[in-house]
Amino acid sequence: MEKLVIQGGKQLKGEVTISGAKNAVVAIIPAAILINGKCRIENLPCIEDVNVTLEILKVLGAKITYLGHDTIEIDASTVTCSEPPQDLASKMRASYYFIGALLSRFHNATVPLPGGCDFGFRPIDQHIKALESLGAACTIKNSMIHAVSQGRLKGGPIYLDVVTVGATINTILAATLAEGVTVIENAAKEPHIVDLANFLNSMGANIKGAGTDTIKIAGVPALSGGTYSVIPDQIEAGTFMVAAAATYGDVLIKNVIPKHLDSITAKLEEIGAGVEEFDDSIHIFPNKPLSCANIKTLPYPGFPTDMQPQVVALLSAAEGTSIVTEGVWDNRFQYVDELVKIGADITVDGNVAIIRGQKNLHGANLSATDLRGGVGMVVAGLMTKGTSTIDNLIHIDRGYEFLEKKLSALGADIKRVNL
Ligand code: EPU
Repeated sequence: MEKLVIQGGKQLKGEVTISGAKNAVVAIIPAAILINGKCRIENLPCIEDVNVTLEILKVLGAKITYLGHDTIEIDASTVTCSEPPQDLASKMRASYYFIGALLSRFHNATVPLPGGCDFGFRPIDQHIKALESLGAACTIKNSMIHAVSQGRLKGGPIYLDVVTVGATINTILAATLAEGVTVIENAAKEPHIVDLANFLNSMGANIKGAGTDTIKIAGVPALSGGTYSVIPDQIEAGTFMVAAAATYGDVLIKNVIPKHLDSITAKLEEIGAGVEEFDDSIHIFPNKPLSCANIKTLPYPGFPTDMQPQVVALLSAAEGTSIVTEGVWDNRFQYVDELVKIGADITVDGNVAIIRGQKNLHGANLSATDLRGGVGMVVAGLMTKGTSTIDNLIHIDRGYEFLEKKLSALGADIKRVNL
């Protein structure tokens, strides 16, 4: 067991480079199952969710070769098994992408119900509905999802009842090798969906409209290999933007796509941070005292739910009263009880948090409740005077590459120690 020890109150200063996008790569790795040949993936982040996804692929029979710390070659032609192991699949949410990919290639998949962060009820009805409209028969029994089809899946129209990243991705994976055309209406528009479509198209798929709410997939019989570089992580970039702003720091955040950060940039400017955009970097600098703001999280291009805890941490030190409404998940404020330990004044009522900014926040011993909640605590530790510790790092390590190294290089006093 390890914990982070932070001596807070230091302004972050300097440059940081953002790694590849977690939520893109956890879809791209299972997508390699669709390829009849080798594919090379570049800009792979070194995070626990990637390790687990690769481990699942290996157990299924794929050959994986590292060609440098952030580049791998996958040969999935050797995959024979269509049943990911329960112990690995239950560690993360994205393991359900193996359903769409295995069903598409083998017309048969048995995948354990996924794990991932606990935000209350996380249904998969839209995944099942989409796979069934493509011709699969799906059953859930003993915590396993079993999907089977008579030969290739058959494309058709699919209307998603809610905007869901996971069901949009699973439908794309299933439809890529289906017969005929699939049209997904009310699709999610997140950058990682566009990245998955770009990856598949570069390997021979025919997917149009990713990034809009109508995605059209003309099924192809097979995909061939190629090389693809994963986009930078929108949420890692946003996290460094918030950490820089919260410490009144001056940080150049490199390897980003500024367009993906528009909603975060707009809110940080409203709160008082200085933000300057370049082609592939973004500069955060002190501008005026940080003050309150109202935020509602929404599917892209709205303000991302995955940035909600980080910005709540920042607002707990900003002047005035902020209202943050969670618009995606039923229960994403569990981390608030930890922030209260640093002196934050936050009241949660259902999916709304009221944050009364405080001047005298202080360090405390905190425990990460989930991935983004945990990194919100890191932001809190960095911006408050005194010593904070954060344990339960298993959550944070799922999604942030070299977090304490990157923060130390910006002047933070942060160390990982054994408990
Ligand atoms: N939903 C349904 N039925 C479904 C699927 C989803 O009702 O079949 C609902 C959910 O209950 C939720 C909403 O739709 O209210 C959105 O869920 P979505 O499917 O979009 O979430 P997800 O695919 O499970 C991904 C990210 C999450 C991120 C959400 C929203 C991955 C691996 N995970 O989850 O990221 O919060 O989209 O943007 O891509 C994180 O990285 O920390 C993280 C939790």
